[in-house]
Amino acid sequence: MTETRFLVFADSRFLGRASKELRAIFEMDGYKKFSLDYDRAFIAAIGLEPSSVIEKMGRMKPVFVEGIVPIEAEAGYSAGSFDEIVAAAAELLDKGKRFRIEVKKIIPNFEGSAKAIEVLLGRKLEEIGFRADLKDPDDIVYVVLSDKAFIGRVSRKLAYSKVIDAFRHANKEAGSAISRAEFKLAEAIDFFEIDINEMKLCLDLGAAPGGWSALMMRSGSQVIAIDNADLDYEMLSKLGRVEITDAKVSAPEEWNLLHIKANVRDVSPKSLDWVGDVDALLVDMNIEAKESAAIAERFAPLLRSRGILILTIKLVDNNIDAHIGNAKAALKSFNDVRIKKLPHNRWELTLFARKI
Ligand SMILES: C[S@@+](CC[C@H](N)C(=O)[O-])C[C@H]1O[C@@H](n2cnc3c(N)ncnc32)[C@H](O)[C@@H]1O
Repeated sequence: MTETRFLVFADSRFLGRASKELRAIFEMDGYKKFSLDYDRAFIAAIGLEPSSVIEKMGRMKPVFVEGIVPIEAEAGYSAGSFDEIVAAAAELLDKGKRFRIEVKKIIPNFEGSAKAIEVLLGRKLEEIGFRADLKDPDDIVYVVLSDKAFIGRVSRKLAYSKVIDAFRHANKEAGSAISRAEFKLAEAIDFFEIDINEMKLCLDLGAAPGGWSALMMRSGSQVIAIDNADLDYEMLSKLGRVEITDAKVSAPEEWNLLHIKANVRDVSPKSLDWVGDVDALLVDMNIEAKESAAIAERFAPLLRSRGILILTIKLVDNNIDAHIGNAKAALKSFNDVRIKKLPHNRWELTLFARKI
């Protein structure tokens, strides 16, 4: 019988839950869990081919599993020498194809950045005749550095190369993002398969400094942002025309972003009737989940039918099920509710729902 080993990533606080989810999905396929000394990943053995596992897992969409990658080789290594890793990677690669290396460290205090190690490994492979191509590789070799190195290879053509992209999210943080929060929304759009081009008008509650608003503006959406804090007007005005108001708005203006600088609790949804149908309600407020869900429910009348809600469930304590339950209970105008711990979620989860 086939048995494939996978490295499974999860936030350390959700590792037990992640394993429980996988057990439920693969109980018929001989699921076995092996712990590592590190608390951000474990090894799972599953009696299926990698592509079937990834496909089945994709369909089930587990909440707490962050990523899962097949392990094809293991190698020892030390900070000074990655020769064993290079040799193992060379076994998996084809000289006629182009590769890219992605490194993830699950030993936090290991010297050298993941990026620097990627460059070093890439060069060593090039020296022995393999062709690197960062932009358009045929294969991605991923190397996870734990007490030893776990190595695997995926073809870019396979659907599950997306899993690998997710696992390198930390390296994408540089660039023009206004806030780290922006990555959460990008991950939610990807995971919940939201057609961002359909979002012509968004309402962003708890918007400062403006990462979520910026992402929606970049896709051509008009955004009404409510927050009593300032947004990053300098960055946002590069994306379109920004208007700031104290909620006494009466008619739509020529703006791309309208910032209502007020406490959300003081803004009546009725006062926004003039905006027309909202396609997406975004709620990323740093308050308890049941309160943000109650606020989402209060603004729901502005949302068009089948419009989407993306809401951050803050886990203010360890009663995870209670926070999820309270948020769901408050969202009476919504269905198709799904929840996911996204890679950029810290002590929080992201909820997706559609207006009934
Ligand atoms: C995590 S930040 C939002 C980050 C934002 N999504 C981004 O991408 O930049 C949470 C925000 O919620 C806002 N907030 C919390 N309670 C609020 C309230 N009652 N009214 C308005 N804003 C509130 C805070 O001012 C803060 O800016």
